[in-house]
Amino acid sequence: MNVGAFSLEAVSAAASADTLRFLTCGSVDDGKSTLIGRLLYDSHLLMEDQVAELQRDSEKHGTAGDEIDFALLVDGLEAEREQGITIDVAYRFFATPKRRFIVADTPGHEQYTRNMATGASTADLAILLVDATKGLLTQTRRHAVIASLLGIRNIVLAVNKMDLVDFDEATFRAITQDFEGFADSLSLPNIVAIPISARAGDNVTTRSERTPWYDGPALLDHLEAVEIASAAAEEPFRFPVQWVCRPDRTFRGFAGTVASGRIAVGDPVMVASSGRASRVASIGLGGTPLEHAVAGQSVMITLADEIDISRGELLVTPEHRPEVSDQFAAHLIWMDPEQLLPGRQYLLKVATRVVPVQITDLKYRLDVNSLEHIAAKVLEMNEVGFVNLAASDPVAFDPYSQNRDTGAFILIDRFSNATVAAGMLAFSLRRASNIHWQALEIDKTARGRLKNQRPTVLWFTGLSGSGKSTIANLLDRKLYARGRHTYMLDGDNVRHGINRDLGFTDVDRVENIRRVSEIAKLMADAGLIVLVSFISPFRSEREMARRLLPEGEFVEIFIDTPLELCRQRDPKGLYARADAGEIKNFTGIDSPYEEPEAPELHLRTAEGAPETMADAIIAYLEAHGRLAGAQ
Ligand code: ADX
Repeated sequence: MNVGAFSLEAVSAAASADTLRFLTCGSVDDGKSTLIGRLLYDSHLLMEDQVAELQRDSEKHGTAGDEIDFALLVDGLEAEREQGITIDVAYRFFATPKRRFIVADTPGHEQYTRNMATGASTADLAILLVDATKGLLTQTRRHAVIASLLGIRNIVLAVNKMDLVDFDEATFRAITQDFEGFADSLSLPNIVAIPISARAGDNVTTRSERTPWYDGPALLDHLEAVEIASAAAEEPFRFPVQWVCRPDRTFRGFAGTVASGRIAVGDPVMVASSGRASRVASIGLGGTPLEHAVAGQSVMITLADEIDISRGELLVTPEHRPEVSDQFAAHLIWMDPEQLLPGRQYLLKVATRVVPVQITDLKYRLDVNSLEHIAAKVLEMNEVGFVNLAASDPVAFDPYSQNRDTGAFILIDRFSNATVAAGMLAFSLRRASNIHWQALEIDKTARGRLKNQRPTVLWFTGLSGSGKSTIANLLDRKLYARGRHTYMLDGDNVRHGINRDLGFTDVDRVENIRRVSEIAKLMADAGLIVLVSFISPFRSEREMARRLLPEGEFVEIFIDTPLELCRQRDPKGLYARADAGEIKNFTGIDSPYEEPEAPELHLRTAEGAPETMADAIIAYLEAHGRLAGAQ
């Protein structure tokens, strides 16, 4: 027996039908650690020396008087986690004569949804801990909502600290009814409520005499007996390719973990995205040939035919093909301190595939207390929403309700690399095969050549009053004088027309820039030199605009004017109004400006006249061959 923390791989390998995976959810003081410690102790799963150590620690640091403080057993692991030994979720194994258990231990600090979502995606059962003295909290409801979204079928409502309410039946019933009323409209088929005292041990491993009115099972009995849904091995075969192994020309193997189903040598398989078919030629596990493999095993598969398959693709059974689409609807659990901004680009990772995506529509936010769908512009940390997503390339997936491995995804912030959301794909909005770009015969190089220029987007960014428009206007005139075909997109003008509906909140600014980048791209496609003059305060959106264009075509020009100087100039009197509190979210005052890290041109206006700046830009364009038609 071991109560240490294990890797996820070890968890998958150990998984089987006689193993129950569960997690405990609760707030910091609900008694999660105490409960797990108590379970292990009362089922005699601790070694003598662990018990002795626990007794010593309890005397020294415990909060349970003369008794053993079980929380210390488990909290020891949290210290490990803080030192970076394990991340997010620690898995703990234990076994009784009846069943093996894997507990995902998710610490109850602020980012609990992150940990819960990570630990719960493979769980069969969730224990929701409620403090009997406090009743249901918003957090308990949130946990129930997430458990239901994650497809956890079994819930134990563990009403803890019953000793503090004198084992009062009415208290227990009131909490239970409250929860059942709430859970009615969630899909949580099996809910069992148990009155417990994790600290004193009541109804944890054996039925307590102090709750004669309770005729259900003790917690451990229930955990040992609860039926768990069919194993992943019974689902259709799905194999996300983790890497392609090509040691020499004669061998090409596809390595990965079987996400669901089973596969045998000779079975037909298909690449989900292309529909190309072949048969399994061999299966290897660490160099040993196998006849077949099942969900959870990490293997190397070779195919009978040479077909093009790269990392991130999904090998599937031709009998049950997944969906392939670049537009889907999905539930999102937002986990980042920075809010979700629809329109911003994130990376979506589903199984082993990673593609850029945009949230095209935030359909609603789910109120976790009332379960109402609320109209929302953003999602804050720990909020749950339903969104539409558009990926830059087609993705093969299954609806989460059918397959938790190929239907779950995470969103990653492109700058910080942080996981910002966990998601569950619901359905595709259209099939990728329906969209075809019209192949244009006259391309943008041809159009540019006609004007003796290379299409270019000159992106001016800087504070309000920094001089962007002044310099851009000067440059525009100079280019015109040289017979170049330009067009100017300016924040103040565009906001009167196509972006009339947008204000200055973060969300609106993101959308403002998204639209403008798309327009600039179209204009570059038409062969123009486009001058874009927007504050564009966020790196992420400027980066997005850059990525819309081929290398060299996007020129970021940072008009660097110190805030104090902008404030002094105040050409439109806006700083004065912002200082007086008349304008909210004013860039540089109560809304951030993220300076470019590596702009193509960094122009410090305090050091030269606008004329000099415009000339510097012309010099750049000439040096980079933008003012000559490409051959
Ligand atoms: S951006 O942040 O979304 O890129 P944009 O460049 O379109 O901003 O618009 C900025 C112009 O709107 C400013 O030059 C200023 O004239 C005006 N403006 C009005 N309110 C604000 C505000 N709260 N913050 C910044 N600019 C504002």
